[in-house]
Amino acid sequence: MPRTLAKRLDVILPSPTLAMSAKANALRATGADVFAFSVGEPDFEPPRHVLDAAKAAVDKGVSKYTAVTGIPALKTAICESTTRTRGWTPTPDMISVTVGAKHALFNLAIALYEPGDEVIIPAPYWVSYPEQVRLMGATPVIVETDEANGWRLTPEALEKALTPKTKAVILCTPSNPTGAAYPEKDIRGLLEVMSKHDAWLIVDEIYAELVYDGFQHVSAAKLAPEYPGMSEKIIVVDGVSKSYAMTGWRIGWCITPKAIAKQIDTVQGQSTTNPSSVAQSAAVAALTGPQDEIIAARDMYAKRRDAMVAGLNSIPGVKCRTPEGAFYAFADCRGLYGVDFNGKPIANDEELAFWLLEKAHVASVAGGSFGAPGYLRFSYATNEARIAGGIESIKAALAKAR
Ligand SMILES: Cc1ncc(COP(=O)(O)O)c(C=O)c1O
Repeated sequence: MPRTLAKRLDVILPSPTLAMSAKANALRATGADVFAFSVGEPDFEPPRHVLDAAKAAVDKGVSKYTAVTGIPALKTAICESTTRTRGWTPTPDMISVTVGAKHALFNLAIALYEPGDEVIIPAPYWVSYPEQVRLMGATPVIVETDEANGWRLTPEALEKALTPKTKAVILCTPSNPTGAAYPEKDIRGLLEVMSKHDAWLIVDEIYAELVYDGFQHVSAAKLAPEYPGMSEKIIVVDGVSKSYAMTGWRIGWCITPKAIAKQIDTVQGQSTTNPSSVAQSAAVAALTGPQDEIIAARDMYAKRRDAMVAGLNSIPGVKCRTPEGAFYAFADCRGLYGVDFNGKPIANDEELAFWLLEKAHVASVAGGSFGAPGYLRFSYATNEARIAGGIESIKAALAKAR
């Protein structure tokens, strides 16, 4: 084998959520009925008009390269939907359409982070944030948050973590993995602190459509003009994957100041070039077409959330906070430590996740992967009957083991 692999690979880990899905798939392949609570994707198809738009694009011969960071129609549609759903209006030259939101974050990492930089990431965090920072040779600075405070970063904790080396702060609202979301007052507190520092605020709003019980998602970018200099420092990451059930279509974007968008165009022009031309046409239809299915999905997820949270809380040893949004329940499972796993007591969240998969055929993701050991993440992007079935299966496995 020629030489060795690049040193930068020493510092990154494979995606644990994808690893758990692979294990669950392997178990399913043996004929087992696996309760797939590990996946972060909707269990239904995109709206009909989106599928039709993709077919029409194929028939029209939309099969060539497009502009690197997206067709003008999609950039315009993103600006309009940002106005409609987030209450502020970017211009098309601020938009970079990417191969999913993860790619938008990766492009930003390439464009912004370098060795010596610190990037503040509140924990629990989405797994890719620290890995992308490390891959660029920069340092993720993980700031703990408190479940009792809704897993939200406080202005005080942010202030304490900021240093002259801080290049960016990454906020996710509503959050993967906790489902916690920041109300306006909390966003304002963070903007106040950020306005005094020379660092980017990257806000991942991929789950912003999915908030429940009347919770109002408020975009930091909408409030930014009220805080000196913040409009020039805010970056929004978004996409159609979660809200329009289009995970496999791979369309995301970031909204940045123009100068950054220009750099991202260069980065992307030397890597993926444009996201799929057909998927871009479908995304235009998603953003500009009827939005009633999004509202219906929100109501459906709210019911699923209630079923999952109540189900988890009905298991002795499990405590689960009711999340404001996204489609994840993040449960404190430390009360299950000590349960017998093939002759040995379970001692951590990873062992617990494997025990659940092996003994209850329930796929979850261990909290340690998100910087929160002791917790498990359960996705409720699945129907209520499956949620009930999974909970019963956990209870039956516990009854046998205890
Ligand atoms: C918080 C968060 N951001 C970004 C993404 C990536 O989305 P996409 O599938 O569009 O790349 C995900 C997907 O799981 C996510 O949970």
